[in-house]
Amino acid sequence: MSRILLIIGGGIAAYKSCELVRLLRKRGHAVRCVLTEGALHFVTPMTLAALSEDRVYSSLWDLKDEHEMGHIQLSRKADLVVIAPATADLLARMAGGHADDLATTVLLATDKPVLAAPAMNVRMWLHPATRRNVERLRADGVRVMDPDEGAMACGEWGPGRLPEPEAIATEIERVLAQPLPVRPLSTRHALVTAGPTHEPIDPVRYLANLSSGRQGFAIAGALAALGAKVTLVAGPVVLPTPAGVDRIDVTTAREMAAAVEAALPADVAVMVAAVADWRVEPAAHKTKKGDASLTLGLIENPDILAALARSPDRPRLVIGFAAETERVIEHAVAKRARKGVDWIVANDVSGDVMGGDANAVHLVTSDGVEDWPRLPKEAVAAQLADRIAAALNA
Ligand code: C5P
Repeated sequence: MSRILLIIGGGIAAYKSCELVRLLRKRGHAVRCVLTEGALHFVTPMTLAALSEDRVYSSLWDLKDEHEMGHIQLSRKADLVVIAPATADLLARMAGGHADDLATTVLLATDKPVLAAPAMNVRMWLHPATRRNVERLRADGVRVMDPDEGAMACGEWGPGRLPEPEAIATEIERVLAQPLPVRPLSTRHALVTAGPTHEPIDPVRYLANLSSGRQGFAIAGALAALGAKVTLVAGPVVLPTPAGVDRIDVTTAREMAAAVEAALPADVAVMVAAVADWRVEPAAHKTKKGDASLTLGLIENPDILAALARSPDRPRLVIGFAAETERVIEHAVAKRARKGVDWIVANDVSGDVMGGDANAVHLVTSDGVEDWPRLPKEAVAAQLADRIAAALNA
């Protein structure tokens, strides 16, 4: 028997939620219903109370409820939160993180899996705003079912019909059967740097390197998937922010150094960024082709990793990367000692690693050197995140 919190949105398909409650009860699940203001126009609390054999909730302002069972408890005393029908407006408010009624407050407060079964007019479902909201919600980990296609209550035809109660009930049981995600880093703060830095030469030119940021972004995502609060300080890259990651965009090494410092304290730091070793004093105006005296006076940038490893706020686990094109391990072992870090992840970047899909790394720790096989960058990230979790929880 599972406990399902069913949020019913205000759409004509709300009548089908009554059938859903009946089915779920028949299959042996406990169902507790929350109705939005709109849903009250389509179905009555009396019907749902009778079908669910439980109290029905609808108002955030029912003080008795807040005393008896606050919205936080309501959202936690369930194994799964289901929204059916999920209207366009409810999806938009969820995607925006609103909490202006009981349904959205519960959805924002829950730590349980969330499954949404949308129902709306075909144009509303296909509207770019709804597409965007659904994409956002899926990236946030909400399971959004695809609506059925067919004739709609409004007389139009297309995708937007609420999936049949049988199909929703089956999907609910499928989600309930999935193992709960393991979140061994749920109390930890991880700081990750990624991407290159750009060091301006003049208003239109800069010094850069080939780093794509992909490995660092994958690591930030993998740490967040294990439950960590992740701050990702990203140099200029064109990559989507992984789900659950707080991203701070910077351009130069000095901006990256400041952002790293501001993000402390952290339990673990993974410095993946290919920070430019040098900067120049940028010219105020665009340098002209004919400018005979053009020389770049290179100034060394701060070493963010080494400074962090020596800082009084040093994270318990400090991990650096070493991108080398020759004598990879030898350089990595030396770098680990020189920078005062715990681990170095070393890789040979003489091939297509920078910007590519895969990476073959060596993990250098106080115990020695491990050679990992060539793996997709996401797999390297997942494996490293597991190792970080094991080290922090040892
Ligand atoms: O010395 P090298 O650049 O090879 O060191 C690479 C490691 O140091 C990476 O983890 C990189 O993120 C970090 N680093 C840094 N600040 C720099 C240079 C490198 O944090 N200025």
